[in-house]
Amino acid sequence: MSNRFPENFLFGSASAAYQVEGAYQEDGKGLSIWDEWVKLPGKTFQGTNGDVATDHYHRVEEDIALMKEMGLKAYRFSISWTRILPEGRGRIERKGLEFYHKLIDGLLENGIEPVVTIYHWDLPLALQKEYGGWEDRKIVEDFKAFAKILFDEFHKKVKYWIVLNEPNIFTQLGYVMALHPPGMKDMGMYLKTYHHTALVHAYVVKLFKEKGYEGKIGSSIAYTPGYAKTNDEKDVEAQRRYYETVNHYIMDIYFKGKYPSWGYAYFKEKGLAPEILPEDEKVLVESAKMTDFIGINYYQSATLAYNGEDGIGLSDFNVSGEKGNFRESGIPGLYRQVYNEKLKYTDWDWAIDPDGLRYALVEISERFGKPILISENGMGAFDEVSEGKVQDGYRIDYIREHIKACYDAIEEGVDLMGYCTWSFTDLLSWLNGYQKRYGFVFVDFEKEDLPRIRKDSFYFYQEVIKTNGENCLKK
Ligand code: BG6
Repeated sequence: MSNRFPENFLFGSASAAYQVEGAYQEDGKGLSIWDEWVKLPGKTFQGTNGDVATDHYHRVEEDIALMKEMGLKAYRFSISWTRILPEGRGRIERKGLEFYHKLIDGLLENGIEPVVTIYHWDLPLALQKEYGGWEDRKIVEDFKAFAKILFDEFHKKVKYWIVLNEPNIFTQLGYVMALHPPGMKDMGMYLKTYHHTALVHAYVVKLFKEKGYEGKIGSSIAYTPGYAKTNDEKDVEAQRRYYETVNHYIMDIYFKGKYPSWGYAYFKEKGLAPEILPEDEKVLVESAKMTDFIGINYYQSATLAYNGEDGIGLSDFNVSGEKGNFRESGIPGLYRQVYNEKLKYTDWDWAIDPDGLRYALVEISERFGKPILISENGMGAFDEVSEGKVQDGYRIDYIREHIKACYDAIEEGVDLMGYCTWSFTDLLSWLNGYQKRYGFVFVDFEKEDLPRIRKDSFYFYQEVIKTNGENCLKK
């Protein structure tokens, strides 16, 4: 391969509705579980919320103009369910659809490929209240109806669809760690809701294929590859248990249609495994074959060590950005995640490991044999404006090294469709407020008119796109 990425490679960037749009009660929008959660005392960092966010809803033309200036090939965004269906089902709000037509048309007119995430965590509050949202199989029918509205409305314009964003994260944080709505700590409920997400993915993919819409469809999983801390057999066994109960568990059900046997048997023995109906098996296997690509959100790797039956449990995350607060976390009897001396860490104690991305891409490609889209990758940092500039060289280094890792993975045979950074503009971090920034475009949240300022990384990524990655690959 020449020292460039394939010509049709999608160098893009991403966002999610709740994190950028604002306008949370405008044009008939209904409330989502996040609109409620952020108002409960103590649930988010310093009580931050997405009522206004970056005000993307009103500034969509300005944001697209910045994307065009950068030369972005693809923009991944999500659709707010309650803008379209304020009560979660039934009455359709036309103004919601019009907003997304405006966004999609604006992207297409500027040569930017829209990549649509159908669900990025903002479940209609009405469905949560009525039947517990993801806790009930009823979610499948409501989700399918929502997805069908989107396919019918946008299928002529949108070629890339991501059904779910990080189902492993929103179920884990919502049902094991009580950090996201609905704030429960119940392992069995986590596994049950995760199973329901897999069913939603499966039925929506089947619908998409059977109705013959053109385009490609997948879902995005947050994937954290894991290494054994040492070659001691206990650590190696901890790594295997991590794969069986985490990585293979979350991936296989989506992209093979069944759970890994050791992992499922482990949860079954504990009385925690989800019920699998005969019709589930059928649709999961069928749709796994129909799924066009695997979306991967990659931020960091994990290093795993032995954790005895009386070992440590899950710990909360660093949400303050005070570096050096890494805390070991684990499941007694399975594994524990430890600090990796060989890696550098961000201020939020996330391991910076570009080679982990290459490693993840190769293992996923070999296990599932499908094309992969990196739907998120990026570095959260405290950025500062000085004399009108944001000098985020650390982010440039991070992205350059991860792009190199993509190139290496392609050379090792991975069919990689594209690379979307997280995120285009700065935006709301669900648990870390507005101080943890990821964007190429700085948003000054202190000022009422939310000015946008291009960071150094903006110009760097512009060059990445212009040279099709060549500027990252030079020795
Ligand atoms: C992913 C999500 O988990 O990571 C995004 O899909 C999120 O919505 C991103 O913002 C970064 O996470 P955080 O917690 O640093 O904002």
